[in-house]
Amino acid sequence: KILILDFGSQVTQLIARRVREAHVYSELHPYDMPIADIKAFAPKGIILSGGPNSVYDSDYQADPAILDLGVPILGICYGMQWMAHTLGGTVSPGDQREFGYARVETEDSTLTQEIYDDAPNQLDVWMSHGDKVTGLPEGFRRVGHTPSCPIAIMEHADKHLYGVQFHPEVTHTKQGSALIHRFVLDIAAAKPSWTMPNYIDEAVAKIRQQVGSDEVILGLSGGVDSSVAAALIHRAIGNQLTCVFVDHGLLRYKEAEMVMDMFARNLGVNVIHVDASGEFMRKLAGVTDPEQKRKIIGAEFVEVFQQEAGKRQNARWLAQGTIYPDVIESAGAKTNKAHAIKSHHNVGGLPETLNLSLLEPLRDLFKDEVRQLGVALGLPREMVYRHPFPGPGLGVRILGEVKREYADLLRRADHIFIEELRNTVDAEGVSWYDNTSQAFAVFLPVKSVGVMGDGRTYEYVVALRAVVTSDFMTAHWAELPYSLLGRVSNRIINEVRGINRVVYDVSGKPPATIEWE
Ligand code: XMP
Repeated sequence: KILILDFGSQVTQLIARRVREAHVYSELHPYDMPIADIKAFAPKGIILSGGPNSVYDSDYQADPAILDLGVPILGICYGMQWMAHTLGGTVSPGDQREFGYARVETEDSTLTQEIYDDAPNQLDVWMSHGDKVTGLPEGFRRVGHTPSCPIAIMEHADKHLYGVQFHPEVTHTKQGSALIHRFVLDIAAAKPSWTMPNYIDEAVAKIRQQVGSDEVILGLSGGVDSSVAAALIHRAIGNQLTCVFVDHGLLRYKEAEMVMDMFARNLGVNVIHVDASGEFMRKLAGVTDPEQKRKIIGAEFVEVFQQEAGKRQNARWLAQGTIYPDVIESAGAKTNKAHAIKSHHNVGGLPETLNLSLLEPLRDLFKDEVRQLGVALGLPREMVYRHPFPGPGLGVRILGEVKREYADLLRRADHIFIEELRNTVDAEGVSWYDNTSQAFAVFLPVKSVGVMGDGRTYEYVVALRAVVTSDFMTAHWAELPYSLLGRVSNRIINEVRGINRVVYDVSGKPPATIEWE
């Protein structure tokens, strides 16, 4: 396995993804992870991430002892600068930031051999840095440079220490995956044993060992994450698992029926269907602040679980479909190693009074891995490859105050949009639903004037949002065909009384987020 030490770059988790894509297990830890813990982790290789700081700031130092472990190390951007600085090289402040595409000319080297595309000794990379290494530490060779970056790649092949100034983890670096795989598989010689069947066996054994004969409660939302967690835990402990499906009144169209069909009827999972919509609506009444809404919905979920758990004498565990990006995004808020943009209700924030321990079997997995796991566990592809749906549901898609009336309108509009996306295919025969990563309708609580038949209307607006992304950290708005947008708009306005205007959101992330709240 590979250890990634995080110095706070916004793209650190992409490093973990690239490593996983080589079927090697990797974990991300803070840069100041104690050396004893690092030794206990026993990594085959260590990758040092980038970060926003300067090596001359004494607060952002890893333990220099990692450089003497005899473990291959790849420093990326700040990670490279830290390595150079710590080993006696020179790091100079950049007069200006270098940001974006660059071409690196390389010399023969251990790190870069076998990773070239068409042109040997040439890499197309993405740079984002201010400081740069200007003097090599002893024993290092310069093996790559750009016109503005004299030492873009350095290596000490005998000690297996490598540094790159650019970011191989982002897709804009064309040979980036190949470079990371070269480091992980060839140089660090990590075993590519991170596969789904292996993972299921290990996860099942671990869950059985963890919970013993206790009962487990799981909040099933119908989303991909909690569904896959339910299927995995059910595989491990069968009837010891009870799922609580909370209908907060903010679910997608016919979601409750779908979930009960699939889990209770098809898979034989114990599912309790709780209609808590009245309570959620009361708690949300008059609340307009997005973070406040998220917190209320999160707290109410916990409350409902607690009530259900209280009815079950042996329940000791609360299972959640927390996945790795949630863990990292929330950890960032605590350690300041990356900025937290939104509070995801399914991580942290559980009250002390909750007498349940957390069981989070998907904590190590990225979204695409969760989906592969779901299919491997026998969930229907169509369900597993559904677009993600946030825990707070329509609560973050109704801007401002949440009302039942708004939720009902939005649910129907959203369903029409999704139906048309599923039924419309592109030139290659792929549905627009599959062509987009996430698509949904957003309810705007403003009224605008329209005309229908001979009458004037004064009704609400729905915005359509569809994005294409591979990691949900950045996203492009989807270039849906006008004919499709037109059909969706017509259907919504004709079929959903109360909506007389439909708009399309053409904002990328960043600067917008995917959800509107
Ligand atoms: P944003 O809006 O931050 O969304 O660009 C990124 C992805 O995260 C989902 N999301 C959530 N998922 N609980 C969840 O389980 C939440 O509170 C939450 N907020 C956003 C969002 O749907 C998108 O896929």
